[in-house]
Amino acid sequence: MRDLLAAVHALRERLGEIPQADERRLQDLKTEILGRKAGALTKILGDLPKLQPADRRSVGAAANVLKRDFEAAFAARERDLARASRATVGLDPTMPGRPSWRGGLHLVTQVVAEICDIFRELGFTRAVGPEAETEWYNFGALNFPKDHPAIDVQDSFYLADGLLLRTHTSPVQVRTMEQYRPPIRVVSPGQCYRRDPFDPSHAPVFEQVEGLVVDEGVTFVDLKATLSAFARQFFGPHTATRFSPSYFPFTEPSADMQVSCSVCHGAGCPTCKQTGWMEILGSGMVHPAVLENCRIDPEHYSGFAFGMGPHRIAMVRHGIPDIRLFFEGDVRFLAQFSGEGAP
Ligand code: DAH
Repeated sequence: MRDLLAAVHALRERLGEIPQADERRLQDLKTEILGRKAGALTKILGDLPKLQPADRRSVGAAANVLKRDFEAAFAARERDLARASRATVGLDPTMPGRPSWRGGLHLVTQVVAEICDIFRELGFTRAVGPEAETEWYNFGALNFPKDHPAIDVQDSFYLADGLLLRTHTSPVQVRTMEQYRPPIRVVSPGQCYRRDPFDPSHAPVFEQVEGLVVDEGVTFVDLKATLSAFARQFFGPHTATRFSPSYFPFTEPSADMQVSCSVCHGAGCPTCKQTGWMEILGSGMVHPAVLENCRIDPEHYSGFAFGMGPHRIAMVRHGIPDIRLFFEGDVRFLAQFSGEGAP
C-alpha cells in the first residue's frame, strides 16, 4: 500500500512536465501515464483491488484526483498548442527567406551627383536657389528682352504674385553673384519647369545643372578647357568635344558643346542620329549686362557659364530612347541602373 501511495506522489511530480511539452512529447507523456495498457497511472488504478478495502479507498481517492489533474493538464496543453499552430498556419520555417529589396538611387540622381563630383574636383562649390522665382531673376537679370517668347504664359508656369516656376537654373547665377564676390566657381543642380508636351524628348519638369565661373581674366579658353575636362571625365578619356555658335541672352559669345558619341564612338548610331556627335550643354561668356545687373564690374571681371540637362545626358550615355521612362517609376527599368537586382 505504501508503495502505491509513494508511486501516486512520485507521479504527481511529473505534472510539471506537461506545460513545456511539444506535441510529440505530449503524446508520449499521455501514453506513459494514462496509456490503457502500460500507463503508470493506469497500472496504479489496476492494482487497487489488491489492497485492503480501507487502503483502497484512500489510495484510490488520491489516484483518481491525480488522474483528473493529469487529464486537465493534458487538455490545457493541447489547447495551447492548437492555438499556437493556428497562429502560424502557412508558415514553413524550412523555406529560404525572401530577400528584402534594397532601394537604389534613380539614374538621374546618380548622374547629377556624378556631374557635381567632377566639378567639385575642379574646384567648384555647390549652390542652390528657389524653384519659385521672380521674373527678374528668371529672365530680367539674365538679359532676356521683354518680348522674349519664354516669358509668355504659354511657355512658363506662372504662380500667384508674379512668381513663376523657374524655367532653368540660370537664376542661381544671379543669386550667387549678388551674394558672393569673385572669384566665383559654382555648380547648381535643381528642377526646372516648362509648359512643354510630355513626349519622348520633353518633360514639363526636368533637372538641370548650372555652372558659373567669374574671376579676373577668365576667357573662352577657360570655358573650353574646363568643359572638355568635364566631358573626358564623365564620358571617358577618349571623348572629343566640339563647340558650335549658339545664342543665349545671358552669354556672349554663346556655344553649344557636343561630345563624340559615347555609344558608337563617332561611327554613327541611332543615339547620335548617325552624326557621331551628341549635344550635351549650352555655354558662353557671361554677358556684361548680366554682370552689371549683379553689380560686378565687367571692365574688371569676366566669366563663363554653362547649363546641362542630366536627363538628356543619361539618355545619350545609355541610349535611352524616351525621357518618359524616367518618370514612370517602373522598377524593371530603374533597377538596371541602380546596381541592385531587378525584382
Ligand atoms: N539656361 C539655358 C537653358 O535653359 C542653359 C544654359 C545655356 C545655361 C548657356 C547657361 C549657359 O549658363 O551659359 O537652356
